[in-house]
Amino acid sequence: MNLSNNTVLLTGGASGIGLALAVRFLQAGSEVIICGRRADKLAEAQQRHPSLHTYVCDVANAAERMELVRWATTKFPRLNVLVNNAGIQNRVQLADDATDWETRRQEIVINVEAPIHLATLLIPHLREQPLAAIINVTSGLSFAPAAFVPIYSATKAALHSFTLSLRHQLAPTGISVLEIVPPAVDTDLGGPGLHTFGVPVDAFADSVMARLAAGEQEVGYGTSEKSRLASRAELDEQFRLMNNRS
Ligand SMILES: NC(=O)c1ccc[n+]([C@@H]2O[C@H](COP(=O)([O-])OP(=O)(O)OC[C@H]3O[C@@H](n4cnc5c(N)ncnc54)[C@H](OP(=O)(O)O)[C@@H]3O)[C@@H](O)[C@H]2O)c1
Repeated sequence: MNLSNNTVLLTGGASGIGLALAVRFLQAGSEVIICGRRADKLAEAQQRHPSLHTYVCDVANAAERMELVRWATTKFPRLNVLVNNAGIQNRVQLADDATDWETRRQEIVINVEAPIHLATLLIPHLREQPLAAIINVTSGLSFAPAAFVPIYSATKAALHSFTLSLRHQLAPTGISVLEIVPPAVDTDLGGPGLHTFGVPVDAFADSVMARLAAGEQEVGYGTSEKSRLASRAELDEQFRLMNNRS
């Protein structure tokens, strides 16, 4: 894809991977709108990168998703790229989980329902734009789950599956459907300090953006690149090693 001259709506862009992607789109000469729940984090990002546009939105809420799309397409009629990046990750032991379902459900709503809904809301607008694209941020865990984040891993497998079907269905419309498949990246995902073992976010973002610019449709990095290309036997072995069971 061409990284310049786009108008990009990127969910969860005030921190981590989303902010790193947003900054690279800006640097390439695109207009970028980021959204998230925390107004202070959005303001902080905007202070560091004054040309960013920001919008407070909880993508867990269907009405807020509809209002986000209405606002963004009205204010930025040239909007041609959606990046579904917002996500949360919860460590859950299902054998001993007393959490109420409404709380539990949020991971599914934010990681799967929201990106599917945002894509469907924006397709009519995107099909009128030149060089339109939908970019979904999945995970290496889409391919081999980490058992300590069982719901998260399932949501990312679902989003990967949806991305394949969406790419197939939208091929005649000219809307590209792309997938970024991160490995563990050093961000605050799941809470501060839980991903310090991950790869540096800037190195990851530089690599995936260069490969998207070169025309690739599904892009991993390090271990997630191996996962997305692995055989079933290799994925089973990864699962065994990652989850420390013989
Ligand atoms: N870091 C990793 O190891 C890793 C690996 C594979 C995939 N990923 C994926 O990469 C994406 C970005 O994660 P990250 O690692 O950059 O973590 P992060 O720094 O925690 O970023 C997640 C972003 O999503 C936003 N967000 C979460 N829930 C939201 C909601 N309901 N509405 C709007 N925005 C929401 C957060 O902002 P607010 O809290 O202010 O809303 C935050 O800016 C996620 O989809 C994640 O699953 C990350």
